[in-house]
Amino acid sequence: MESIILETRHLTHTYAGGTSSAVTAIDDISAAFYSGEIVGIIGHTGSGKSTFIEHLNGLLKGSNGVVLLEGKDIWANKKEIRKVRFKVGVCFQYPEYQLFEETVEKDIGFGPKNMGLSEEEIARRVRTVLGYVGLNDSYLSKSPFDLSGGEKRRVAIAGIMAMEPQVLVLDEPSAGLDPRGRTKILDLVRTYQKQTGCTVLLVSHSMEDVAGLASRIFVMNKAKLAYFDTVAVVFSHAKALETMGLDIPQITKLFERLKENGYDVDTGIYSVDAAHKELLRLLEGGARR
Ligand SMILES: Nc1ncnc2c1ncn2[C@@H]1O[C@H](COP(=O)(O)OP(=O)(O)OP(=O)(O)O)[C@@H](O)[C@H]1O
Ligand SMILES: [Mg+2]
Repeated sequence: MESIILETRHLTHTYAGGTSSAVTAIDDISAAFYSGEIVGIIGHTGSGKSTFIEHLNGLLKGSNGVVLLEGKDIWANKKEIRKVRFKVGVCFQYPEYQLFEETVEKDIGFGPKNMGLSEEEIARRVRTVLGYVGLNDSYLSKSPFDLSGGEKRRVAIAGIMAMEPQVLVLDEPSAGLDPRGRTKILDLVRTYQKQTGCTVLLVSHSMEDVAGLASRIFVMNKAKLAYFDTVAVVFSHAKALETMGLDIPQITKLFERLKENGYDVDTGIYSVDAAHKELLRLLEGGARR
């Protein structure tokens, strides 16, 4: 049985509430995340993705609703919120701007140090996560400021991983990187999840990125949760996604067009493999107009 690790119930957040400039950035969001799954969080700019994830470790507090970690309201005891931040590791958009220590080793070790861990344990964790993000020990003594953009990003992510959170939340980890850097980040997220078994929530603008990584997709639209389902089910709503300003994968579009043209095909297709199988079925006469 899959168990729920993190849950939100009726979570709502209004910035500048009670003023004329009030904005309800997330509106009545109820969702449950399972242990060990990878969820892709997508939505148009301003749909509320970052606001939502900033609630998951108590950086923001909802105007309404609750966040439950292992069934417990994270705000039940205000003094415990620090511990919640160790269990739910949130890596913000462009985290490389938050590097500040003089060496990579110190930067990655910052979180574990705050947790009060021993020097040996900190050293062990720093080396382990460095491997997860594809950097070797020669980086430990370097200044974070001497690294490339992609390397800095990976060091920042490693710093969150070093807290060994049960849930790792990444806000647009591949934003602004070149295609090689993007692939690298997505690959390391996949490997990290396999090796640690932790839950990963990944915010992305790119449907293609998310489709290749996540088992479920959480779609935000104008502060509301529009869909939260398997990749195939979500992509079968291609038309609605497009009206939400989301660009569905090319391969999914192709199957949409076939369907529109009267072919009896599955529209929840998003991988080349699945497309291949479905096209063979069509050609062999299994799917007719
Ligand atoms: N600190 C803030 N004060 C007031 N309004 C805010 C604040 N942060 C975000 N908002 C507003 O809340 C809404 C949701 O913003 P949010 O940053 O959560 O969206 P997003 O989906 O993460 O967007 P993006 O894809 O651009 O990162 C937007 O209308 C935004 O202008
Ligand atoms: Mg955002």
